[in-house]
Amino acid sequence: MRSLHDCPAPAKLNLFLHVTGRRADGYHLLQSVFQLIDRADRLHFDLRDDDQIRRTNDVAGVPEEQDLVVRALRLLQAEFARRHGRLPPGISVRVDKVLPMGGGLGGGSSDAATALMAANALWQAGLSREELMALGLPLGADIPFFLFGETAFAEGVGEALQAVPGPDCWYVVIEPGVAVPTPAIFSAPDLTRDSKPVKIADFSSHTDSCSTVGFGKNDLQDVAMRLFPPVAEAVEWLSSHGDARMTGSGACVFCAFSSEDAADQVLAQVPGKWTAWKAKSLKTHPLMKSLLQNQGVV
Ligand code: C5P
Repeated sequence: MRSLHDCPAPAKLNLFLHVTGRRADGYHLLQSVFQLIDRADRLHFDLRDDDQIRRTNDVAGVPEEQDLVVRALRLLQAEFARRHGRLPPGISVRVDKVLPMGGGLGGGSSDAATALMAANALWQAGLSREELMALGLPLGADIPFFLFGETAFAEGVGEALQAVPGPDCWYVVIEPGVAVPTPAIFSAPDLTRDSKPVKIADFSSHTDSCSTVGFGKNDLQDVAMRLFPPVAEAVEWLSSHGDARMTGSGACVFCAFSSEDAADQVLAQVPGKWTAWKAKSLKTHPLMKSLLQNQGVV
């Protein structure tokens, strides 16, 4: 195998997100449910004749050297070399972005997770899913979730994951047109950092219908709405159609519906100044079977 083309890197929504504390290193302790949805970036990988890792296209606002995809591939290449005593071939990667940056959809983290899965297969590196998760965590707290690959109750800084049945819903997602920098939200003095811990069973008993996706809340939302008024405007508009909520540290705002028709009806009314779309919940990561299970690397 010399190439893997059109590999999806799906988005996530945080169905709720509670901040329960702060670690000594400044990172925050969270409780959240991560839900994969079927809107995705697309990545293309080709083995090279040399040992370089290169991105072949421009991605607005992300220099090649800082791209999580490039950094993840280089980390795995170094880990391969440590284990096998030789460098595997380089990889050229093209990243077709669909997901907005600073949107709270986990696009950059998902791209990096997809790159780790693809390179692990292309190089037959043989790392387990847990080893890939540990390799990815220092690059971004959301990367382990995308490698975990199914609806998850997350704790710790987002890396302690347990599978949980997610609701089967259609979502309308609004991009308010601003990029929210995650550190600005987490470092805000007025952020609530003492949410009472919930139990996984508390959430699980709320997953039978999309109208009860409204379990808990997003503790980052009030700060993001204050610092980024377009987020507040999108929350306000979507709230008149259901339980609207921000995902991650923003900027995107979503609402859950139990039918595609109901989602379509709201989508048709979204003011033209915003980009908006519908998406369906995904049970598992689309690459889970082909790149993890079939390769015997789980
Ligand atoms: O790991 P990630 O790149 O997603 O985090 C970006 C920033 O968000 C971190 O540098 C940190 O300031 C903040 N953060 C946090 N607690 C988390 C996740 C992120 O404080 N659990």
